[in-house]
This record gives sequence, structure tokens and C-alpha cells, in this order.
Amino acid sequence: MAPGILEDIYPPTIASDQALAGKHTFPDNADSEEYARSLDSSDPLRTFREKFIIPSKASLKRKSLAAIENDQDGIYFCGNSLGLQPKCMSRYIQAQLDTWSSIGVAGHFTELEESPLKPWQSMADFAAEQSCRLVGAVTGEVAIANTLTVNLHLLMASFYQPTATRNKVLLEWKAFPSDHYAIESQISWHGYDPKEAMILVQPDEDHVISTQKILSTIDEYSDEIALVLLPGVQYYSGQFLDIPRITEYAHSKGLMIGWDLAHAAGNVPLQLHDWGVDFAAWCTYKYMNAGPGAIAGLFVHEKHGKVEYPEGCDTPVFRHRLTGWYSGDRASRFNMDNKFRPIPGAGGFQISNPSAIDLTSLCASLSVFEETSMEELRKKSLKLTAYLQYLLLKGGAEQKFRIITPLDPSKRGAQLCLLLESGLLDCVSSELQKAGIVVDQRKPGVIRVAPVPLYNSYHDVWAFTRVFRKAVGMQ
Ligand SMILES: Cc1ncc(COP(=O)(O)O)c(C=O)c1O
Repeated sequence: MAPGILEDIYPPTIASDQALAGKHTFPDNADSEEYARSLDSSDPLRTFREKFIIPSKASLKRKSLAAIENDQDGIYFCGNSLGLQPKCMSRYIQAQLDTWSSIGVAGHFTELEESPLKPWQSMADFAAEQSCRLVGAVTGEVAIANTLTVNLHLLMASFYQPTATRNKVLLEWKAFPSDHYAIESQISWHGYDPKEAMILVQPDEDHVISTQKILSTIDEYSDEIALVLLPGVQYYSGQFLDIPRITEYAHSKGLMIGWDLAHAAGNVPLQLHDWGVDFAAWCTYKYMNAGPGAIAGLFVHEKHGKVEYPEGCDTPVFRHRLTGWYSGDRASRFNMDNKFRPIPGAGGFQISNPSAIDLTSLCASLSVFEETSMEELRKKSLKLTAYLQYLLLKGGAEQKFRIITPLDPSKRGAQLCLLLESGLLDCVSSELQKAGIVVDQRKPGVIRVAPVPLYNSYHDVWAFTRVFRKAVGMQ
């Protein structure tokens, strides 16, 4: 392999976002601090880092909230688990508290001057509209409500309609446990046996599942499947599944398909509407930076969100779902007449009055996304992760660890998952911790490293790889 040419380690097939992926090449001096700094100074998104609070090396070790001054930034590569706090968050939260303390119940419908916030009753719609561009939805296809697993349950209540002969759910072999449990319990709830009704698609190699494997498993069980539910980006391996192709294929077999976008939303470009995805759900605390356990998003394709009133009839016809007063049309919600008129679109899948403080934190984080686009973020992300991969693999490091995330940049998001040689995890973790570097680790031997284009720098990547290579015994 010619030195510095990353393209040689990409597999030959680079799919859909090839134009964005490009073929990043790095010069011989790419592992110097000076080079990393030069990438940062030419990064068009470099000012976004300033919009986030980067935990300092000392604050990462703190046991108290007492102030720490003049400390060096730590290196945070854990946005795949919990995104960093946008600096505007405290202003938004304070505005919400001030609204509540000054006008009480009127905050539901009053927009105050000098406030970054909408009235509480409009915030969910506002956040939903802003989220559309992040997931490629048209107006009305996104709702903001609840949390991810709750939304998966609510969506399955509508989209998983098993029968005696067609009751199976196709999922992946290592779905995130909450998804696995949710599916298991939905199947039992309908009176079927999860052991028989859960089809777990197996990986081809390591943790990576080829599209072909998914399509052939769909083929094998197509007469028995009631629902396909897959991750957009797999939480462990970081694999970005081919959502349009798998969706199209499931539809060609007459199947419903939903996507868990926990690790995809705010990470990779999505076109849920154009891809014809039936439904999707995501949390907002990872790449979307809305804070731990923040309110979640859901997508229902417009074809499933129609509400019709047949002529001469005031009883609406709409897709079955579980409902509450917030599924109902805002204009008649407060009539208290028990005549249910669902909101057309994804909004009709809301149930309760959402928490305003929770919506406030999402609105703060979305305000940062408003200043850029997923295309811009993806462009940087591809280069940042390519740089990470390049520095990790330089000099035959693969005896000490393996990257189990696909090396093809179009088949992954920001995260690389590193499988360490047996026995290395404790030492690597301790060296990273000492250096003020935060990554996610999974026993017995995996670390997941997610450089996030909004707030990570090329210098972060360079500094991380130096510590990492030393910790695994390479130089
Ligand atoms: C892929 C995936 N699904 C589901 C969940 C559970 O999310 P929640 O606790 O917000 O329901 C997570 C959380 O990290 C996740 O990564």
C-alpha cells in the first residue's frame, strides 16, 4: 500500500454517499501535531466547537461541583452515548424557569419577548418541524414525545399487527437490549411465543451484517413476517445499514419496516420520507446533544398518517394507534367532549402533555443544528473518522486491535469500534482516563470511539491516537 493513501484500505464498493465520502488521502506527515492543527484551521465547521462545553481534564475527575479554573480541555469521544452540552442550554433552561415563575399557567400559550422559547404548547411542534430536516421528513411526519423505547412500543402498537400465520418480527442478532425486550414483550402481549417469533439476522463476519444477508433472511421468512425492525446505525459495530435498499426490499414483499435511529439521528444523513420508511424512532441525547434521557423523536410516513372523514360522517378514519388527549387535534382538544379527532400525521401518535423543561433542552440543542446541515456535518465526519482510521492503522497496528466497524466510510457513521487483543482493555482504559480522554468501553475488550463533527477536532483525534498507540504497546 502506498504510504498515506487511505483509499487502498476501503473495499472497492462505495455506495450511495460516495460523493460526500470522497477518498480522503493523508500525507506522510499526517501523524504530526502540526498537520492535525492545519486540518482544524481549514475546517469550515471549526467554530461549532465553541458552542459546546468541553469537559476539562480536571472536571472529568471531579467529585464535587466546586469551580475549577484554567484547566485544559479533555478529549470527549463519547457522543455516541451522551452528547456534550451546548453552551446555549443554560440560557434556554433559565428562560423556561423564568417564564414559569413570572407568568405561571399563561406560559402555555404566551410568547415572551427576549425569550428564545416558543409557548410551551407550541414547543413540541416547533421541535418536530426543526427535526424534519435532520431525518429527511416532510412537515407533519415527525413528532416529539416520550423516550425512545416508549416510542418503539407505541409505534409497534400500531405497526405490529400479528396474525396466526404472520406474527414474526425480524431484528438483528445483537439488537440493543431495550429493543430486544420491547419486541419480545410485544410478541408475548399478542399471545405469541418470542422464541418462535423473533428472527435474529446473524452477522456475516465479526459484528457486521451484509445487506444481502438481511435480504435473504427476509426472503426466507417473508410469508411469516409481520414486522421488520432494524437499527439505522448499529450501536456496537457502528455499521450504517442500507436503509433505502432494505426498506424497498421489505416493501416489495409486502412487509412493514421500522428503524431505530438512536445512533443515526444527527450522525448520518437520512431521507426517511423519500426512502418510504414506514416508521422510525430516535433518542436525542446522543448525537443530538439534548441531555441525558431527553425527550425523543418519532417518524411516521405521511402515507400512514392520514385522517379522513367520509362524506356525511364525523367519525374519522385513521390508522389504529394508542391514543390520549395529545393525539387529538389541538383546536378541539380542550372541548372535553370525548369526540376524538386525531392530529393528521406523526403528531397523532403523541399521547400526553409533554414536559416543557425537556422540550426546552431539545430546542436548545436543535438551535445549534439550525446553523448547519447534515450534509456539512457528514462531510466533516467522514474526514474526521477517516483521519482516526488512518492514524490508528498506520504502521501495522492491527496485531493489537482490530477495527470491527466497516472500513467503507459509506457504511458507517462517526464511530469506530476497536476490538482489543485479549487482556488489553484495563490498561488502555486506565491510560486514556489518565490523559483525560473519554471513550465508551464494553467488556471484555471493546472501545468505541466517536469523533463528533460538531465539537471534536482533528487535534483531538491526533492526541487520542498517540495515547492509544502507546497504551497498546505500539509507537
Ligand atoms: C439502539 C438503542 N435503542 C434503545 C435505546 C434505549 O433508549 P431509551 O432508554 O431512551 O429508551 C438505546 C439507548 O442507548 C439505544 O442505543
